[in-house]
Amino acid sequence: MKKTIITKDNLFVLHTKTTTYAFHVIESGHIEHLYYGTTLPITNSYEAIKPKYEFREGNLITYDSLYSFVGLENRNLEISTRGKGDIREPMVEITYSNGCSTCDFLYDSYKIHKKQALLTLPCSYDENEEVETLVILLKDKQYDLELELHYSVFYDSDVIVKSTKLRNCSKNEVKVDRLLSAQLDFDKGPYVFHTFKGAWIREMNHQQTICQQGIVVNDSKCGTSSSRSNPFVMISTPQTSEDYGDCFGCNLIYSGNHYEAMEVNAFCNNHFLCGVNPFGFQYNLDPGSTLEAPEAVLTYSNNGYGGMSQHMHQFVKEHIVRGVWKNKERPVLLNSWEASYFDFNEKSLLELAKAGKDVGVELFVLDDGWFGKRNNDRSSLGDWYVNKKKLPNGLEGLAKKVNQLGMDFGIWVEPEMVSYDSDCYRNHPEFAVEIPGQRHSLGRHQLLLDLTNEKVQDYLIDQMTQVFSSANISYVKWDMNRIVSDAFSQCLGSQYQGEFYHRYMLGLYRVLEVLTTSFPTILFESCASGGNRFDLGMMCYMPQVWASDNTDAICRSEIQTGCSYGYPMSVIGAHVSACPNHQTLRNTSLETRFQVACFGLLGYECNLVDMNKEELGKIKEQIIWYKKYRKVLQFGNYYRLKNEEGIYQWITVSKDRTIAIGCYLQTLVKANFVSGYFKAKGLCNNGQYHFTNRMITFDEKELGNLVDQVKKDEMNRFCCEQEDYTINGLVLSTIGVRLKQGFGGSHYNENIRIFQDFASRIYIMEEIKRV
Ligand code: DGJ
Repeated sequence: MKKTIITKDNLFVLHTKTTTYAFHVIESGHIEHLYYGTTLPITNSYEAIKPKYEFREGNLITYDSLYSFVGLENRNLEISTRGKGDIREPMVEITYSNGCSTCDFLYDSYKIHKKQALLTLPCSYDENEEVETLVILLKDKQYDLELELHYSVFYDSDVIVKSTKLRNCSKNEVKVDRLLSAQLDFDKGPYVFHTFKGAWIREMNHQQTICQQGIVVNDSKCGTSSSRSNPFVMISTPQTSEDYGDCFGCNLIYSGNHYEAMEVNAFCNNHFLCGVNPFGFQYNLDPGSTLEAPEAVLTYSNNGYGGMSQHMHQFVKEHIVRGVWKNKERPVLLNSWEASYFDFNEKSLLELAKAGKDVGVELFVLDDGWFGKRNNDRSSLGDWYVNKKKLPNGLEGLAKKVNQLGMDFGIWVEPEMVSYDSDCYRNHPEFAVEIPGQRHSLGRHQLLLDLTNEKVQDYLIDQMTQVFSSANISYVKWDMNRIVSDAFSQCLGSQYQGEFYHRYMLGLYRVLEVLTTSFPTILFESCASGGNRFDLGMMCYMPQVWASDNTDAICRSEIQTGCSYGYPMSVIGAHVSACPNHQTLRNTSLETRFQVACFGLLGYECNLVDMNKEELGKIKEQIIWYKKYRKVLQFGNYYRLKNEEGIYQWITVSKDRTIAIGCYLQTLVKANFVSGYFKAKGLCNNGQYHFTNRMITFDEKELGNLVDQVKKDEMNRFCCEQEDYTINGLVLSTIGVRLKQGFGGSHYNENIRIFQDFASRIYIMEEIKRV
């Protein structure tokens, strides 16, 4: 095990490859944060960097007359609590049996050991078991409570994972009003708080707020991590850019209501908190029991947002995603949803599957509509038995025939839900999340099952075990299409209803743990109306997530760019669909749809049976090309490149830096703006690369009356310009390749880049030699 934690007297210093984190215990027993940033030899400079206090600032509360210089309101701390003068948002909030909420956790001792798994929640892991954890034990002596602060040091990923545990050692029950996962205090700002906001089909918009005195909150109250506010956030200085400057990243390994807040106090000091949302949360902690907070993943880079993203990508790939699919190339799939929605039968599905096989698809996925009497979204959730009218030979018969075509078979389920019109609800109304005697507010006409109830968890495990073993199922899309309303469990007593949201997550995680352990070879894809549960908690069980129901190439390039700040491409499902697009009615070329989707885990979600020969030919070529570069596209190092108005660029580079694939995409044409360049990242400076573009063809119609100027083939198609150069890696990353001129209204020949609205090019860089 690598030694990453240094302790000296009251000082604790944690080192990752390029970062250092330090704190110390002050005279009063509180834990004061000292530093988080680029690697520094703190230990020998401790006296000099230690904050100096002779008195506490005016109008602050004196913590204790024994320590008259300690005023907690303006100290950078590792944990803030309520009642002793620290008037910032607390990290821990407790109501004791006497009704009092003032608490005071003071340092007791520390331990260092190998990282251990949480007992109730999904968490990060290390295959090689080389991660050291520092545990700081704090005690609230007044009430006999213990609080542990855990710091796990992932040296190579430059990540520190924090979590907290609260133990009730007293004889009285206490109510936990909040137990957050991490606090990070910063000296004087200003800082920028970056969040990833949105809605259904509009996920992951990068939003930036300059923090001033007061609080900025990013949170979810809807029971899922949510498409409204992803739990991943960044904190930077105003000067930070993609490649330069300080950037901190933080994500939570949790899929429910979360809370990230940045508070600036009266002295311009900044106070960041993250964890389970205190909204609707009150947990009863019995004598002798313990409550765990989810893990918070923290990283820092002085190479801007891009450097921070590299750390997060590496961490998710290595320490979140697990199981047989961790580093395994994912199959190209064809999903039936946008091809036929609820309207299918065995024959039509097999026609679709066969069309998929003909173009090179490897996995056929039957989406919603195969069970109960589900012909629309108003019924049958909970009735997980096959609709024999649609599938007379059951899932088994269909899977067999799909397998005979030479493809794997997968299905869609939405296990956490129940429809009023279902046998499940008729037989077990008490399984639903519903307040007895009150009208329920529905979402997509459906109710949630009460996963706080162990009986419901067991029922789900049993139902899904039957479905997953009923046929040769290689893939499962686990969907979840409503948010929580009328939060109430019929199995919890009135005093426990404040535990509902968190207990729902604990129940879900138990179900997922059992099922993914029982079916280790199934490839699971998490989905919640697209990106409504795109988070590290789900990724601990499911190696990929359907990031958005929006398959429009332009929206997708924005959504995938948003995701890329905190998540690697290897977790993002991305499909080519029909045009006009079903979410936006926008038309984009088949090539642009592919060239955006191929940077994620490629699938097709359109009716191939209706497509013409030319389109099918293009798709066949796309899949051949994708398979050739699949490893780098799925598992390479992904970088955002220069994004200017209307242009998106990105690149993914193989681990050994011998192959890189880049994309250059335009939203709307700017007339007479014909020059462009492609500047790479992540290449080997000493490498000599062969730079080419993926050749695509256009239909003659795209040139209108200008068509006479073009050399066409017998299908009346013409080819895009060809770029073909040898270039040094450092030059390619510094100057870039000056691309051939774009069409500018005055001239056309075969060396001109036809680059209309929503056009894109893929550039391929293959290393020829390294000098
Ligand atoms: C919502 C998902 O996000 C879609 O992809 C599809 O599976 C539908 N649910 C099916 O109801």
